[in-house]
Amino acid sequence: MNQPALAPILQARQITARVAQVAKEIDRHYDGESFVLLSVLKGAVVFTADLMRELRNPFELEFARSRSYGDATRARTEPELVVPDPERISDRHVLVVDDILDTGNTYLALRQWLMDHEALSVRGCFLLDKPARRQAEVKPDFFGFQVPDVFVVGYGLDHAERYRNLPYIAQLPAEEAA
Ligand code: IMP
Ligand code: MG
Repeated sequence: MNQPALAPILQARQITARVAQVAKEIDRHYDGESFVLLSVLKGAVVFTADLMRELRNPFELEFARSRSYGDATRARTEPELVVPDPERISDRHVLVVDDILDTGNTYLALRQWLMDHEALSVRGCFLLDKPARRQAEVKPDFFGFQVPDVFVVGYGLDHAERYRNLPYIAQLPAEEAA
């Protein structure tokens, strides 16, 4: 069965415009100095693809992987991290790029790992910021939009692996939320 269309809370064209602005902020911040763009799979893949094509500053692309959800809408476990080769990030400025900063536990764990492996600096860029659910003491250095405390899908974000392909951001229908 095909997935149903959901009502957008952020339209594709709003996201496109905002991603271009965020890229300019990042270019201004690094000011020509190269950095490692560490994209967090899988949710950040769409945001990363759009953001990186707007960047003019030199960067190297690396990936990390984090998993804390399974099929639920509430994180159940400590984030499991799959990290890059430490040589790729040591002595480098690192920009973590993820889909959403929610509890902050994923970013906190990744930032700690990066600092333990001698990254020169660590910054975080998130398409979405959901401050209502924050548990860790972290904040985004760059973000696209703040969202309320609802489970959102689309533009890379999934629920049980569905909806990543929506070109916009929508609220998960209540009857689907676990
Ligand atoms: P955090 O560790 O709680 O900050 O959340 C990190 C990850 O949880 C994000 O990268 C997302 O993959 C996932 N996540 C958090 N909130 C949502 C949501 O509303 N929709 C889809 N995924 C979410
Ligand atoms: Mg994610």
